[in-house]
Formats: sequence, C-alpha cells, structure tokens
Amino acid sequence: MGVRIAGTGSAVPERRLTNDDLSRMVETSDEWIVQRTGIRERRVCDPSREGTFTLNRDALRRALEAAGMQGSDLDLVIVGTCTQEMSCPSVACRIAGELGVTPGGAFDVVAACSGFVYAMNVADSLIRSGRFRSIGVCGGDAMSTIIDYQERSVSILFGDAAGAAVLVADPDPRRGCIHQQLGSDGRDWTPLYIPRRLQEVPEADRDNPIRMGNLRMNGREVFKFAVSRFRQVIEDALQATQLTPADLSQVICHQSNIRIIESAIEKVGLPPEKVYINIDRFGNSSAGSVGLCLDQLWRAGKVPAGKPMMMVAFGGGMTWASSVWTV
Ligand code: ACO
Repeated sequence: MGVRIAGTGSAVPERRLTNDDLSRMVETSDEWIVQRTGIRERRVCDPSREGTFTLNRDALRRALEAAGMQGSDLDLVIVGTCTQEMSCPSVACRIAGELGVTPGGAFDVVAACSGFVYAMNVADSLIRSGRFRSIGVCGGDAMSTIIDYQERSVSILFGDAAGAAVLVADPDPRRGCIHQQLGSDGRDWTPLYIPRRLQEVPEADRDNPIRMGNLRMNGREVFKFAVSRFRQVIEDALQATQLTPADLSQVICHQSNIRIIESAIEKVGLPPEKVYINIDRFGNSSAGSVGLCLDQLWRAGKVPAGKPMMMVAFGGGMTWASSVWTV
C-alpha cells in the first residue's frame, strides 16, 4: 500500500505585522530583525474571529477542495499544534465536526514546530497499515496568542499560519513517505516552553517577566540545538535513502531563522534553489511553517511526481522530524 498527496491547502490571517510595527512596540529595528532572522513581516490573527481552529480548518478545507474531496471522504483528521484554544476538545475534533468528517477519528499532535511533519509521518504509517484510507493532516499555530509583545526576544520571530494535506491510499507502494524520523529529547526542554503553572517553571527562570501561558525561549540555546540537529537529521535521511541533494526536488525546512536554514544549506551542501524560503513574509509560524511551504510549492508545480522531496523540522520539546516523500 502506498500513499498519495491528493491535495494541499493553507491559511494565513490578512493582518500583517511588519518589523517597523514591532519597532514601535519594543526596542528593536527592521535592520536588526532582517539581519538576525531574515524576517520582514509576519501575519497575525484578529482574535475576535481567527485563531488556531479557524486557520487549520480553512487550510484543510482548501486541501479538500484541491483534492476534489469532501470532509465525509476522510477517515481521520490529525492536527499538529501547540496553541490549541482548548486542551479539550482537540482542534482536530472541532475541525472534523465542522467539515463533516464525523464519525471519523480526530486528534492533535503536540510537537511544537515539528507538528506538521510528525502528523504527516503518523498519517502515512496509518494508511500503510491498511486501517485508514484517507486522512486530513494539518499543522498550524496562532503564535500571536501566546506571545508577549513586550518581549523582543520572542515577539520578532513568530507569525500565525496553517498548512494542510489530504493523504489517500494508493495502490503503488513506492508512493508516499519512503523515510521518516520522529525524534525528541525531553531531558532539557527548558530552552523553549509554555508554562501554565509556576510549579513547572525551572528555578533559574522564576523571575522571567513573561506571563504564564506565554512562550518562553532561550534563543541562543535553541539556535545551537537547531543548527546541529538540522544538519544531522538531513544527513541521516540522505544516508538512509541513499539519495543525494541532487536527487531531491525540494528540501522543505521549518522556517525558524534564515541563518539556521543557511547553515544547513552550507553544511550539508544543499542546492539553495531547492530550499524554499518564505520566512521573510510569514516569520516562524511553528507547526504552520512546513505545511504552508508545501502548499505554496505544490500549487506552483514545484513538487513534481516521481521525484523525492524532503520535509524537516525541529521544535520545542525538544523535538525533530524528517519525512522523505515520493509524490
Ligand atoms: N532587537 C534588537 N536587539 C536585540 C533583539 C531585538 N529583537 N533581541 C536581542 N537583541 C540584542 C540582545 O540584547 C543582545 O545584545 P547584547 O549583545 O548587548 O547583549 C544582542 O542583540 C544579541 O542577542 P542574541 O540573543 O545573542 O541574538 P541572536 O543572534 O542569538 O538572535 C534570535 C536572537 C533571533 C532569537 C536567535 O537566537 C534565534 O533565532 N534563535 C532560534 C529561535 C528559534 O528558532 N525558535 C523557534 C523554535 S521552534 C518552536 O518550536 C516554537
């Protein structure tokens, strides 16, 4: 049994938050943000009518339209997110209910920025097992709902977005995910976390001014982790599949920071034209980032059938994931 990507979709809020907007809120500048991150603007939700649920729902709705399918054709919805409005019900359950997937299954995956790639890997495995025939996979976060905009170390990086793909069973077993890795190291999660209670806050971080419920990040630690992990995960995937960068149509990297992506390009020897960049326009949208890139590339015809492509992400947890597909 193989797996086919039948359609993709994405959703971003209309509202743009530029570097100049941020420099009116905290002590920063367009020049600093562009040099250190590659970001020029990001999208942020209007909280009165948008959020994690609406972004992921709209992305999946567009993926279904692209596939020529309806919600009732899906057996399961999986949503990668860390900004759920509610821990119960899951975002996936609400989407399944609204798009007509009921009584199909639905659950959220919490792997921070790795969420979409985690969900794609799980969905591919479930379809290959023969137990599911069609799964709606979403990854999306409304990061603006957990960002302290008084804190320049986090506010400059993040934006809101969701991406989705509809996966269906295919008789050709060579189609679908040909290599995957799901990884985590929860021994030290402290560089990136969203505490709800003081009990969970490490002693050394007790006087952090960022309020409970908002993202806390040690940017330098995450940066070091990301640079070495990205390289390792991409090299592992190339070795396991016996592919070279020249064999791939795209390497879709989580849009965390342009310097992290450029380091992977340089250290692994990836052709820059195969590494899509949209961080300048959308910032780091956490679990939304890889799915948003996939949808933009898919619609532009840049993920051709028969040629492998790779998706790779890392995030809070700490987590990481890779997924190599023949589409
Ligand atoms: N504007 C202006 N100056 C700033 C800003 C800012 N927004 N932020 C920090 N600075 C200053 C610092 O105070 C420091 O000044 P000093 O030298 O006088 O002390 C200087 O700039 C350098 O600060 P660093 O923190 O060392 O800056 P760095 O080059 O590491 O860039 C950044 C910071 C952009 C956050 C970087 O560390 C980064 O991108 N890290 C990775 C973050 C990431 O990818 N997070 C997402 C993980 S995915 C997920 O799961 C959600």
